Amino acid sequence: MHSPSPHSLVELPIRHLNRGDLVPCADLCEDRGWPRDEHRWGLLLSAGTGYGIDAPDGKGLAATCLTMPYGADLTAVGMLLVAERYARRGLARRLMRHVMETVGDTPLALYATEQGQPLYEDLGFSPVGRAERVGGRFRAGGPGGVSSPAPTLVASRSSVTTRPAAADDLQALVRLDLPVFGADRTHILARLPAFSDRLQVAEEHGELVGYAALWPSGPTEVVGPLIARDTAAAQALIAALGATTDRPLRVDVEARHKELLGWLAESGLEPLSRTTVMTYGIPDLPGDAARRFAPLTLATG
Ligand SMILES: CC(C)(COP(=O)(O)OP(=O)(O)OC[C@H]1O[C@@H](n2cnc3c(N)ncnc32)[C@H](O)[C@@H]1OP(=O)(O)O)[C@@H](O)C(=O)NCCC(=O)NCCS
Repeated sequence: MHSPSPHSLVELPIRHLNRGDLVPCADLCEDRGWPRDEHRWGLLLSAGTGYGIDAPDGKGLAATCLTMPYGADLTAVGMLLVAERYARRGLARRLMRHVMETVGDTPLALYATEQGQPLYEDLGFSPVGRAERVGGRFRAGGPGGVSSPAPTLVASRSSVTTRPAAADDLQALVRLDLPVFGADRTHILARLPAFSDRLQVAEEHGELVGYAALWPSGPTEVVGPLIARDTAAAQALIAALGATTDRPLRVDVEARHKELLGWLAESGLEPLSRTTVMTYGIPDLPGDAARRFAPLTLATG
C-alpha cells in the first residue's frame, strides 16, 4: 500500500482520545524513545483532553496532543508526538493549530523539547524559562552516602518536618497550591493520592509549607509536583520520598532553582535533558516561581 501524499496527511481527521487509547498512545511514546507511561496517560486523559490522528496505515496513532485546562486563565499543552514514519509532514503543526483554535483566548503554556521549540516559536509562543531534567540513584546524605559530610544545604538544618499526606490534607494542599501554581488545579490534586506511590507534605509549626508526589514511570520514580516554601523544604520532601524507594529518581526542576539542582547533583542525580518553558497570550507563567520547584509532568504545565 502506498503512503498518502503529504497533502492528504494534513487533511486526516483529528479525534478526541479516551482511556481506550492508552495502548496506542504508549506505542507512540515508544516510537519516539519516550517511556511508554500508560499510567501517566491514564491521568492525562481523565483530567485533560487528548487529541489524536489515526495512522493511515492502520497501525495505531500517527500523532497526539493533550490539553490540560485550568479555567479561563491557563491551558497547558503537552504530549505533542508524531510517529517517526510521519515526521516533517505537517501533523504537529496541524494539531497545534487545532488546539489553539479550540481554546480560543485562553493563554497557553508548555515545556518545549529542542525538536518542538521551532514549531512553537513559529506559532507565536515565547520562551520564558527552562526546566532541567535530572535523574539517577538518589544518595541520601550526599556523595558517599549517609555517613559522609552532608551536601551543601541540608534540610535537617531547617525545622521543617515531612510526613505522608492524609485524606484531610487535601483542602490545605489545594489552598497552598493555588497562589503557587497560579490557577486552580483541584482536578489534578484530587487525583494525586490514587496516581502517586506516595504523596508527602512538609510542615513547620503545624503549618503546611510544601508537598510533593512520587509516581512511577517505567523503572523510574518521578518527583512532581514539588511545591515548597524554600529550598530546605524542597530538599526535605525529596529526601523523604527518595527514602521510600530503591528505584532511580527523576525530577524536572525549574532551572531558576540552582541551589536545589546543586544539591540534587551532590545527591547523585545527573542532568538528563532540558526543556524550554514557553507561553502564548501571557508574558510569563502565573503564580509564584520561587515556590514552584517541579511540575507534576511536563505535559501538565
Ligand atoms: C516535534 C514533533 C512533534 C514535530 O512533529 P512533525 O509532525 O514532524 O512537525 P511538522 O511537520 O508539523 O513541522 C512543524 C515545524 O516544526 C519544526 N520541526 C519539526 N521537526 C523538527 C526537527 N526534528 N528539528 C527541528 N525542527 C523541527 C520545523 O520548523 C517544522 O516546520 P517545517 O517542516 O515547515 O520546517 C516530532 O518531531 C516529535 O514527535 N518529536 C518527539 C517528541 C517531541 O519532542 N515532541 C515535542 C514536545 S514539546
